[in-house]
Amino acid sequence: MNIILLGPPGAGKGTQARHLVETRGMIQLSTGDMLREAKTSGTEMGKKVSAIMDAGKLVTDEIVIGLIEEKLTTEAGAGFIFDGFPRTLAQADALAALLAKLGQSLHTVIEMRVDDDALVNRITGRFTCGNCGEVYHDETKPTKVDSVCDACGGTDMVRRADDNEDSLRTRLMEYYKKTSPLIGYYYAKGDLRPVNGLADIKEVTASIKAILG
Ligand code: AP5
Ligand code: ZN
Repeated sequence: MNIILLGPPGAGKGTQARHLVETRGMIQLSTGDMLREAKTSGTEMGKKVSAIMDAGKLVTDEIVIGLIEEKLTTEAGAGFIFDGFPRTLAQADALAALLAKLGQSLHTVIEMRVDDDALVNRITGRFTCGNCGEVYHDETKPTKVDSVCDACGGTDMVRRADDNEDSLRTRLMEYYKKTSPLIGYYYAKGDLRPVNGLADIKEVTASIKAILG
C-alpha cells in the first residue's frame, strides 16, 4: 500500500508518517529529510539547495524526482509513505510514471487540513531529536524530561533553519501556488481522503487508521 500525506508545512505529515512506520512497517520517504541530510553532509547537491530551503522556496523538480526514484528502486517494505512529495503537478506525474514502471500504484492520498493560524504556532514551537528524528513541540508535545528524547534518550535537540515566521510565509505561498493544485488533481482521480489535521495528534492518527483500515 503506497500513500501520500499531503498538507501545508506543519500539518503533521512527519508526525503521522513516523507512527505509520512504527505500527505498519511502511517506509517513510520524506524529500525534506533527504534534502536536509544532503545539506548536513555537505554534498554538492546539499550546497546547491541549502539557501533555497532556508528561504522556504521549493527546490527543482529534477532534484527531488531523482531522490525519490533512487529510493523507490532500492528500498522495499510494507508500502511507501510519500511525505512532502509530490509538491508540484510535474512531481505528481513523475510519481505516477515511476510507480507504473515498478508495477505499483497509489492507494490513497490523505489531505491533512489545518488553518494557517495554527501552522505558525506549530512551526515556531517545533523541535526534533537530532539522534532519532522524533518530532516534538514546546506546547503540544514536549519531552517528558526537559530536552531528553522520550524515544531514544538523546539530548541533541535541533530546530530547523526554516522554522521561522519569514520562511514559513514563503513556504505557505509556495504551498498554495504550486502544491494545492494537487488536491484537485487527486480528487479527480478519486484518490483523495481529507482528515481534520486540527484535531490532536492521537485523533488524527485514528482518522488515518479509519481510512487505511
Ligand atoms: P519539508 O521537510 O517537507 O517541510 P514541510 O512540508 O514544510 O513540512 P514540515 O516538515 O514543516 O511539517 P509536517 O507536516 O511534517 O509537520 P510535523 O509533523 O513536523 O520541506 C522542507 C523544505 O525542503 C521545503 O520548504 C523545500 O525547500 C524542500 N522540499 C522538500 N520536499 C520538496 C519537494 N517535493 N519539492 C521541492 N522542494 C522540496 O508537525 C509540526 C509540529 O506540529 C511539530 O512540532 C508537531 O509536534 C506538531 N503537531 C503535529 N501534529 C499535531 C497536532 N495534530 N496537534 C498539535 N500539534 C501537532
Ligand atoms: Zn531521539
